[in-house]
Amino acid sequence: MGDETNGPGSSLRRILVTGGAGFIGSHLVRRLLRLHPRVEVIVLDALTYAGRRENLADVLPDPRLTFIEGSITLEADVSRSAAGVDAIVNVAAETHVDRSIFGGDEFLLTNVLGTKRLLDHVRATPSIRYVQVSTDEVYGDVEAPTRSLEGDPLAGSSPYAASKSAGDLLVLAYARTFGIDASITRGSNTYGPFQFPEKLVPLFITNALDGLPMPIYGDGRQVREMLYVEDHCAAIDLVLHAGERGTVYNVGAGVEQENLETAHAILHVTGAPASLLAHVEDRLGHDRRYALDCSRLAALGWSPTIAFDDGLRRTADWFAANRAWWEPIKSGAAYEAYTSRAYGER
Ligand code: DAU
Repeated sequence: MGDETNGPGSSLRRILVTGGAGFIGSHLVRRLLRLHPRVEVIVLDALTYAGRRENLADVLPDPRLTFIEGSITLEADVSRSAAGVDAIVNVAAETHVDRSIFGGDEFLLTNVLGTKRLLDHVRATPSIRYVQVSTDEVYGDVEAPTRSLEGDPLAGSSPYAASKSAGDLLVLAYARTFGIDASITRGSNTYGPFQFPEKLVPLFITNALDGLPMPIYGDGRQVREMLYVEDHCAAIDLVLHAGERGTVYNVGAGVEQENLETAHAILHVTGAPASLLAHVEDRLGHDRRYALDCSRLAALGWSPTIAFDDGLRRTADWFAANRAWWEPIKSGAAYEAYTSRAYGER
């Protein structure tokens, strides 16, 4: 996607990015500030655990960025951060499947109630353009050679996927019932710098760098489309500015790969030995394969530009050069409590 997308001519001047201190959110904020010189960005982020102020360190001094700590589940936080905005991009979410399997309420609170809070604000201020950032997991797994289309039934497998599906259905319901100007993006597995080291790619890279085991769930033959974060953000930016109201857009890398292939690519790029690969007990309800048909978004002019080898090299280089970002996370008590719960019994 060229950098010319929706340049100075765009009418969206003030954009609220919820979850803007998270992984995808922080890349989106950086992109909006870089490519749209007249845009002001407001970030609303609850800074729970994956949302981190330091993810925005390079752009926080920019006078066009305003950072607000708060939650999309709280009406007061939504109204103070959305005051006067032309658009809201909702990237705030609880996103980790394994955490959702532990059964906490936070997935429903953030992904469903939080979405509703934002939609209620848009309903009351109908000039606001709204984009919901969602996931391919809402379709559940699909058998080859099928690729999920935007109109397919929602059949998510995990509590996380169910909560994102509920959020998506609310967005579509508000678009139909109240006529709000909303679109949804459904992205495939995204990776890149600043991703919290609980997801496959950053967990395996950081473990490989430290000579620690890389825990492969089950046989490792599950299929994912690995999308570089900047390609994903280009798609969100395009849908924000050019997507049709009431419409869903799939965002996939277009290349299917098994987790074992991803793990071997990480061994290769980090120079770690294959002896680090450790098969462990499978994830409950584990989806076997996701694959997206992205022709609708292609018709808007998007296609992924960063091949996996290139994106993985950039990502591994970033993690190798930024130990100061991830070492305190991985040695912290909260992370250790999570990993001993998630992996201890495997
Ligand atoms: O597909 C989009 C989704 O991708 C996003 O909506 C989610 O927020 C994001 O977490 C991701 O979901 P996955 O469950 O696919 O991602 P995760 O990185 O957790 O796992 C990727 C694959 O790797 C999956 O098949 C499970 C497997 N896996 C994961 C971890 C963390 C392992 O084999 N070992 C692991 O330790």
